[in-house]
Amino acid sequence: MQALNQGNSALGRRAVLAGVAGAALGRPAIAGDAPLKLGLMLPYSGTYAALGENVTAGFEMLLAERGGKLGGRAVTLVKVDDESDPSKAPQNVSRLLGRDRVDVLVGTVHSGVVMALVQAAREREVLLVIPNAGNAAATRELCAPTIFRTSFTNWQPAYGMGLVLGQRGVKKAAFVTWDYAAGREAAEGFRDGLAVGGGEVTQVLTVPFPQTNFQPVLAQLPGLGVEAVGAFFSGGGAVQFVRDYAAAGLRAKLPLYGPGFLTEGTLAGQGDAAEGIQTALHYGDGLDNPRNNAFRPAFKARAGREADVFAVHGYDAAQLLAVGLDATRGDAESLRPICAAMQAASIDSPRGRFKLSPQHNPVQTIYLREVRHGQNRVIGVAVPDLADPGTGCRMPA
Ligand code: PHB
Repeated sequence: MQALNQGNSALGRRAVLAGVAGAALGRPAIAGDAPLKLGLMLPYSGTYAALGENVTAGFEMLLAERGGKLGGRAVTLVKVDDESDPSKAPQNVSRLLGRDRVDVLVGTVHSGVVMALVQAAREREVLLVIPNAGNAAATRELCAPTIFRTSFTNWQPAYGMGLVLGQRGVKKAAFVTWDYAAGREAAEGFRDGLAVGGGEVTQVLTVPFPQTNFQPVLAQLPGLGVEAVGAFFSGGGAVQFVRDYAAAGLRAKLPLYGPGFLTEGTLAGQGDAAEGIQTALHYGDGLDNPRNNAFRPAFKARAGREADVFAVHGYDAAQLLAVGLDATRGDAESLRPICAAMQAASIDSPRGRFKLSPQHNPVQTIYLREVRHGQNRVIGVAVPDLADPGTGCRMPA
């Protein structure tokens, strides 16, 4: 952590300037008891709206458990609906850091939108916790001391799914996805996993994000000569895709698999069309550990709906921040000890306890799940303790 070590770093200057400005305005030079401002940039509309809502509800639940405080300091949340629209992301981030003057950034769901947050975290040395978006760059080539993720890389669950199918002897598969980073990276993970057993992905078929006109792609699948189909979709789009796949009569001919987002938080809308679909994810229904057994009923009582992996990501983002801010008793300017504590954290997550890789991404077990009676039941382990390869990350020492 070279930059954070130097007293004369941009970060150091930022802290000093903030103190001078604060004194001139009659505020204390050190933040003291002023509430800590956290900027939550998430989708509250569009195809990923339910994901953003559950990330937020999970985050707020952990805060409530800690009396609304992190590191002993009261927390104020500033929420922005990013609409999963990459073109609006730079402006939304500027607003949070400029007008709203947040101390910490938390966001987002969409792999393209998160790039604006990553850029700000790198250029302005702001602490960023990513509670969903799985794009590789954030913890590979654009990794940074102040960037942390409590979710996954797009590669991780897709790799687990491909690995299981390869072990079952699948030799040729197709992959269907929205055409953006998350889908492309999921296709790569699926390909890498399948390749371990000697299988290959012969076609990747795409649909522009967030469109849901799947008919042209579905019509092509039977003619591809593949034994199985993997798919990355999530939220509202996943509900539609799984329904359309079943309605096209493809389930019996071409079994459908995917990273577990395909059936996560979507089962009420998918109904019978999802029954029997197997997916791989770092969470599932019926995971029997004390943290999950407490988390599930508490979330339901609070939010009025079932928890899912997105709620877990939000809860764990707040848990990780709590570790960092406890280390400095709420002093958000002391990034070096905050980041050191977060890097070393062992998070007692509803998914099972996890630690972070040196690139700040969870090392976690990928479960195999099957939809049974409207639940994503865990039926096995696809890969234990899977780390993202982290290729290209040169984290300052
Ligand atoms: C992403 O864009 O990184 C993304 C979105 C939704 C998911 C998973 C990944 O469920």
